[in-house]
Amino acid sequence: MCGIVGYIGGQQATPVILEGLKKLEYRGYDSAGIATLAEGGSGIRRSEGKLVNLETLLREQPLAGTIGIGHTRWATHGRPSEINAHPHKAGPIIVVHNGIIENYLQLKEQLKQQGHNFKSETDTEVIAHLVEEKSKNEPDFEKSVHLALAELRGAYAVCILNERQPGTLIAAKLGSPMVVGLGNGEFFVASDIPAILAYTREMVFMEDGEMVVFHDGAVRFSTIAGAPLDKQPRHIDWSPLMAEKGGYKHFMLKEIHEQPRAVRDTIAGRLLEGEGDIYLEDLPFSDRQLAAIKRIIIVGCGTSWHAALVGKFYIEGYCRIPVEVDIASEFRYRNPVIDDTTLIMVISQSGETADALAALREAKSRGAMSMTICNVVDSSIAREATGVIYTHAGPEIGVASTKAFVTQLTALYLFTIRLGRAVCTLDAASGQRMIADLKRAPALLEEVLKLDATVEKIAKKYMNARDFLYMGRGKNFPIALEGALKLKEISYIHAEGYPAGEMKHGPIALIDEDVPVVVLVPKNSAYEKTLSNMEEVIARGGRVIALCTEGDDEVRGRAEDIIQIPSLDEDLDPLLLSVPLQLLAYHISVLKGTDVDQPRNLAKSVTVE
Ligand code: AGP
Repeated sequence: MCGIVGYIGGQQATPVILEGLKKLEYRGYDSAGIATLAEGGSGIRRSEGKLVNLETLLREQPLAGTIGIGHTRWATHGRPSEINAHPHKAGPIIVVHNGIIENYLQLKEQLKQQGHNFKSETDTEVIAHLVEEKSKNEPDFEKSVHLALAELRGAYAVCILNERQPGTLIAAKLGSPMVVGLGNGEFFVASDIPAILAYTREMVFMEDGEMVVFHDGAVRFSTIAGAPLDKQPRHIDWSPLMAEKGGYKHFMLKEIHEQPRAVRDTIAGRLLEGEGDIYLEDLPFSDRQLAAIKRIIIVGCGTSWHAALVGKFYIEGYCRIPVEVDIASEFRYRNPVIDDTTLIMVISQSGETADALAALREAKSRGAMSMTICNVVDSSIAREATGVIYTHAGPEIGVASTKAFVTQLTALYLFTIRLGRAVCTLDAASGQRMIADLKRAPALLEEVLKLDATVEKIAKKYMNARDFLYMGRGKNFPIALEGALKLKEISYIHAEGYPAGEMKHGPIALIDEDVPVVVLVPKNSAYEKTLSNMEEVIARGGRVIALCTEGDDEVRGRAEDIIQIPSLDEDLDPLLLSVPLQLLAYHISVLKGTDVDQPRNLAKSVTVE
């Protein structure tokens, strides 16, 4: 998830673009760059690290010109570096891009054979070379862009300049957000409203498959194939702060609603549907190396540990390799038994959690193969692990992890398919079935998000409880733990997650009408047993909030409140069940007036022991 900004008009472009990029830093900030067109050609300035580094560079080496494009990067392909920073240039063509080009490797090979030399590891640079290649036979800039875009697969919000057409800026959208700002004799393009709100409130929201051409003070909308479109602007009356949260009240709520997109981005370009297999670009293990693994240890902290617990079910269930799960701070001090047939998998959103990093180092020092599931490219853990599966959730600002968690589960499922195919416990047909289920997840997450009003009503009813219990079975027990963590960390209400079968071994003594019990009871292999655990709670006067499968009249008749989720393969219930629990915690904490995005005593990344 990166941020792009384009400008064409009467002002100097650089300050406008720089201010816009600052408003988009929440979308990514590991490198940045700006290009402008002026008399005699173009200028490009790029820098690694935060935007302030680019600002310093521009002070030392200013860029003139009243047309320009800029980019703040959240790396997906290619480490954060000056060379991988956007804009990317090929001949006279200059590009900034937000999204993932799924077929970039094959296009890159094709272009190399046509004599193109690449400087970066990015998918974006391919776009610049492709437009340049097309312009060799199609001198019309706009048409050469149509031809190039027709060959791209994946997602893009792209701004393109051509040194040979200094009065023109072209932008196009497919799968990544883009908004156009209409000023007085000037035009703006950006990934999101905050970047241009200071200059105009007249915005045109681009839809997938649409393109816009700014040329000599005029703006023209079309499809990416060239058919003219009539787009009407909307007047945006948000405050700048509201705009940064996409109109949501809190980053956490915005990130909860980003989950369908985050899952889509995490699976994009990785599904080998024909073979029923998975392509993991940063996992350098051959089938032989994977088949040599005798034991897997998954470590993490907090929410990432909960994801690890779900991963155990996936990997043992499908790959038949023993999996241990450890809290990272415990693992590093327990003198673990490890050798070179052990794979250590560290799960970490930030890639900077001290205990998780130390656990990685401990396992590597004892000879383990290593990998991580991580959300931050080139973070400490991502750099030190041999293999990486990046979750493409984009920056997660809210301290309470939401979209990162659901994409961690997605990455675990992707890895399970890859490993199962490598160790031959999964055949192509099974892999294809699992991929088909995974592809349905984003749309079903959209469905679950529509339950927000139902969940808010339940939140109002139970907001004054002093203790909550959450219970589930199998791979939904970790979701009970996650639901409890979400509630306690942002609403400060005490909450505990338990295996449903464990209630009778003690926790059931806590049950009375003042302790709401959240029961995860979807129609799955553990349904009957979980249902009887729910009955045990009700029989003792407990008040049950049941998350069940749509149409489950049995649960509807027994629980005090129900939240019905769509049915998917039970493997992926954890993704769908997580969302109502995130929303429950969110609404209760808003009702209680706690600081949702920055709850007391907590930090987004615990970089100390
Ligand atoms: C989860 O909502 C918390 N923010 C916290 O438990 C977090 O999951 C934990 O600190 C691990 O962080 P990491 O994933 O960045 O390593």
